[in-house]
Amino acid sequence: MLTVAVLISGAGSNLRALLDAAAEPGFPARIVVVGADRQADGFAHAEAFGIPTVLVPFREFETREEWGDELRRQIDVWTPDLVVLSGLMRLLPTALVDAWAPALINTHPAYLPEFPGAHGVRDALAAGVTETGASVIVVDGGVDSGPILAQERVPVLPGDTEHTLHERIKPVERRLLIDVVRAIAEGRTDLAAVAASAASDLP
Ligand code: GAR
Repeated sequence: MLTVAVLISGAGSNLRALLDAAAEPGFPARIVVVGADRQADGFAHAEAFGIPTVLVPFREFETREEWGDELRRQIDVWTPDLVVLSGLMRLLPTALVDAWAPALINTHPAYLPEFPGAHGVRDALAAGVTETGASVIVVDGGVDSGPILAQERVPVLPGDTEHTLHERIKPVERRLLIDVVRAIAEGRTDLAAVAASAASDLP
């Protein structure tokens, strides 16, 4: 059984979908801890499932590195096989990425490498594209630049707002995330091999 830590900052609707999936008989992964950089509404989903929560408030640390060290210390207590960033709206310090990679994945509400960063949905709307998407990637040292594990297109419709477009993207993200976690747990996706292959493609 693959053990998973999930890190969030907000509502945690994707976390909720993963918790629901993991509660299904036969799902090959279970969530052992949910962490956040702030008092996130999504903690309520973890509590509903009796999953422990870890709050490491970013603003209480002098540096990103110190925050990352404490987050690592508290999450590593649960010895997760995989860490999922599911709406964590903070860049992880390099030392933390190095410690957890390649067993560190991220969901993103755009068709990477299009529209990386904190405002993937807003940026797609501002660019006037007719389709955007959702992606699940391995986290590397860049911003949403790691190897892509799964992605799917989502149409942008006339009259879309950031909210309506994001709400259309999220169900796709959830499906991709659940599929990716299942594939990792079943050994069909080998994150070390994916990361090594991406590194060998570098010039
Ligand atoms: C998700 O769409 C996730 O991809 C996005 O935040 C949302 C969290 O929603 N993350 C990023 O934009 C990271 N760059 P949720 O809290 O309801 O799951």
